Amino acid sequence: MDPNGKVAIITGGASGIGFATASLLAANGARVIVADLDADGAQVAAKKIGGEVRPLQIDVTKRSEVQYALNYAVAEFGRVDIVHNNAGITERGEDLFAKNALKWEQVLDVDLRAVILGTQLAVQQMREQGGGGVIVNTASMAGLDPRGAAPVYSAAKSGVIQFTRTLGYLAAEGIRVNAICPSFTDTPMVRAGGPQAIDAVKQLVGGILDPQLIAEGVLQLVRDDSRAGAVMRATVSRGLDFAFERH
Ligand code: NAI
Repeated sequence: MDPNGKVAIITGGASGIGFATASLLAANGARVIVADLDADGAQVAAKKIGGEVRPLQIDVTKRSEVQYALNYAVAEFGRVDIVHNNAGITERGEDLFAKNALKWEQVLDVDLRAVILGTQLAVQQMREQGGGGVIVNTASMAGLDPRGAAPVYSAAKSGVIQFTRTLGYLAAEGIRVNAICPSFTDTPMVRAGGPQAIDAVKQLVGGILDPQLIAEGVLQLVRDDSRAGAVMRATVSRGLDFAFERH
């Protein structure tokens, strides 16, 4: 799908990978809803990008708010062509086996349940309006090859990968679902671990990715109509390529 003139909703669009994707899709002619829990961040992001970009505060775990984002896109721009289910959090730093460890439930909610919810409601909208659509879910290399100590995050991302692969069948009705699996990327999520977190990542996988590369991957997935259900990887060693490809 050529993003020019199309309407995209990017969740987690106020920061990091989502911001890079929102910027690149807008630069390629898309009209964009920057949907994020962080209302101020979404406003700043939309202003920075400029043009036909609207900020919207939503919590992706709430059905009514995700539905509102779809309705808002239709009200503002007439339809929804692209949904990037990208908002995510990590439990990194929390010991799952500590007595008061509760964050993992939220991780599962945002990183897996909300991706399923976002896909469900997006497909309903795309079916209603006709003409197909593209959904790109942000998974992670942690869902393919877990490193570091984030077991529930890895489980959630693995779930996103298999959920996406299963939905390849929607291509029969012109709706394409893909996933992207970034390796460690230089965003506030990783920087929250302090300067030593960046060094640790570089040691672990040999470098840290620029969010721009992930945005380029998402753009490639939007454009390429031939790979329903495909899972793209973004890594330091190989750049952008596809997992599960049979050669
Ligand atoms: P980030 O922390 O810079 O951005 C995440 C955005 O999601 C924030 O703006 C935050 O406000 C928003 N968000 C969080 N919970 C939300 C909710 N309930 N509803 C709506 N918005 C919410 O993080 P980053 O790195 O840009 O992450 C984006 C995605 O990429 C996530 O799904 C993350 O798991 C994934 N990812 C990140 C990697 C990295 O190394 N940075 C590596 C692999 C995947």
